[in-house]
Amino acid sequence: MDDSLLASSAPRVATRAQGGVMMEKLIVRLKDEIRKNKIRNLLILFALFLICCLLALDSVVILSHWIHFGSKPGRVTVDTPGFLTIVETIPDEVELTTAIQTWEAWVELIDSAVTNLDIACFYMTLHNTTERPGQANGEAVFQALLRALDRGVVVRVAASMPNGPSYEIDYNLLRNAGAEVVYVDFHNLYNGVLHTKFIIADHERAYLGSANMDWRSLQQVKELGVIVYSPTLAKDLGTIHEIYWETGVRNATATLKHLDTRMSLETPGSLNLNHTTSDVFLTVSPPPMVSTHRTGDADAMVATILDAKKTVCINVMDYAPVISGFGSAPNVYWPVIEDAIRRVSALQTGAYPTVGVRLMVSFWNNTNPIVFEAAATLAMYQNIEVRMFHIPDLKEPLPFPTDHTRVNHAKYMVTDRKAVVTTSNWEANYFIDTAGVSLVTDNPELRAGLQAVFDRDWDSEFAYTVPEVMEKFVVGGWTVDFANMTYPNSNNYRTH
Ligand SMILES: *[C@@H]1O[C@H](CO)[C@@H](O)[C@H](O)[C@H]1NC(C)=O
Ligand SMILES: *[C@@H]1O[C@H](CO)[C@@H](O)[C@H](O)[C@H]1NC(C)=O
Ligand SMILES: *[C@@H]1O[C@H](CO)[C@@H](O)[C@H](O)[C@H]1NC(C)=O
Ligand SMILES: *[C@@H]1O[C@H](CO)[C@@H](O)[C@H](O)[C@H]1NC(C)=O
Ligand SMILES: *[C@@H]1O[C@H](CO)[C@@H](O)[C@H](O)[C@H]1NC(C)=O
Repeated sequence: MDDSLLASSAPRVATRAQGGVMMEKLIVRLKDEIRKNKIRNLLILFALFLICCLLALDSVVILSHWIHFGSKPGRVTVDTPGFLTIVETIPDEVELTTAIQTWEAWVELIDSAVTNLDIACFYMTLHNTTERPGQANGEAVFQALLRALDRGVVVRVAASMPNGPSYEIDYNLLRNAGAEVVYVDFHNLYNGVLHTKFIIADHERAYLGSANMDWRSLQQVKELGVIVYSPTLAKDLGTIHEIYWETGVRNATATLKHLDTRMSLETPGSLNLNHTTSDVFLTVSPPPMVSTHRTGDADAMVATILDAKKTVCINVMDYAPVISGFGSAPNVYWPVIEDAIRRVSALQTGAYPTVGVRLMVSFWNNTNPIVFEAAATLAMYQNIEVRMFHIPDLKEPLPFPTDHTRVNHAKYMVTDRKAVVTTSNWEANYFIDTAGVSLVTDNPELRAGLQAVFDRDWDSEFAYTVPEVMEKFVVGGWTVDFANMTYPNSNNYRTH
């Protein structure tokens, strides 16, 4: 503050002669104030009027919204032809045939991008500078991402918080090439991880499925996903990307209101997919990320299971009706899906046709004992069959670490009426505190395609019953201490 200002603010003492002039001035000012106040009152009235108008307008909007989504929901109906294509990773040396491998579909999807690539991933380990026979597919996808950045495509990666600097190598290389990468601190916000895996190109085409952005998932792990050619579905997936993005940028739970959907279990979208008008919607977990009109993953799974009339076929890496405490807290029984499976298979007897359930989980070096227990338990029921899928090691081990490879990592369900492709395993934690996305549809071509994949695997040399797994892989037989959950680990795991 300068000195002149200080001086002008010093108190002034009025002389007698100045008194009359001051009075006159005061009256003029008072009149002025009254006039101004009138205007102010008018302004206040006008403002109140405006607020009333806005409230009325808002209730009309809310009402129409309610009419639209509530009792008589307005369906999203799209006649423009869209497509769903199954893509798989069949690992090296596994003799199963598939039409399109994940890495080829990804390279094509990424190369097709003109303006945008919106990616959600758990982690990214695609790149490796050395030419490696067992890893080359990952590098091919990474090069496609660099090509996209090179031609000016906006690449936005929403990733689960990396587990240390070695998990930041790919992200930093992409950042240097112009990509935006946002970490979502899922563990601190929701006590889980961002486990979702999808790639959206130009808000029009997308991949959604089990494959991580990892060289393993593109060559040494069995995976399944769908390529979705549908702007309606791709945009809906985009709102889920926005939720991750907002969560990551703000490091706070996202505001879900503007990220809502119009397609749900109650009101599926009606889309032309593979030449058939199909019911379709995307569901998410965990519950805090489920916006008002979206369906949660667990609700979708239960509804799909209970909707079956003849068959339910489930392929997930892990299945267990348990919220795992991961050793630091007790496990908690979570019967939501287990109950649906038991209900649909057991209760419809007598005069009603019986629904047969087939569950295929994975047996590998990292099988959680609780998965074995859940599989063995369900296998005891009359209308439930269980097999465990096992992928043998490569004949010649690769000359670098190959932990977390050679496993069936696919996650999908196919019934006689519906198909579900998801990014989540079926342990309760995936539904409760971990981010995942699922596509649910009655599209007959996807349903038939998934059924063919399931039957191919179920009847393959890689699928074993629980007793067969015990006999073939577990040295000295298998005993489960149900109170303690001890389980044969890799030390007494017979190698082939
Ligand atoms: C390449 O892969 C090998 C084996 O996984 C790893 O040891 C090495 O650090 C990787 N190199 C780069 C540059 O990522
Ligand atoms: C994000 O917020 C959570 C909860 O407030 C906090 O525990 C965590 O440290 C924050 N993470 C980052 C990366 O700032
Ligand atoms: C699984 O464990 C066995 C026994 O420890 C080991 O020989 C094998 O290489 C492991 N497989 C993979 C893919 O890590
Ligand atoms: C849907 O149609 C496309 C194009 O004809 C085809 O490539 C794809 O395999 C079909 N999807 C399924 C699940 O059969
Ligand atoms: C659980 O298993 C461990 C390791 O085999 C054993 O030392 C312990 O006594 C067992 N606890 C119970 C309650 O059976």
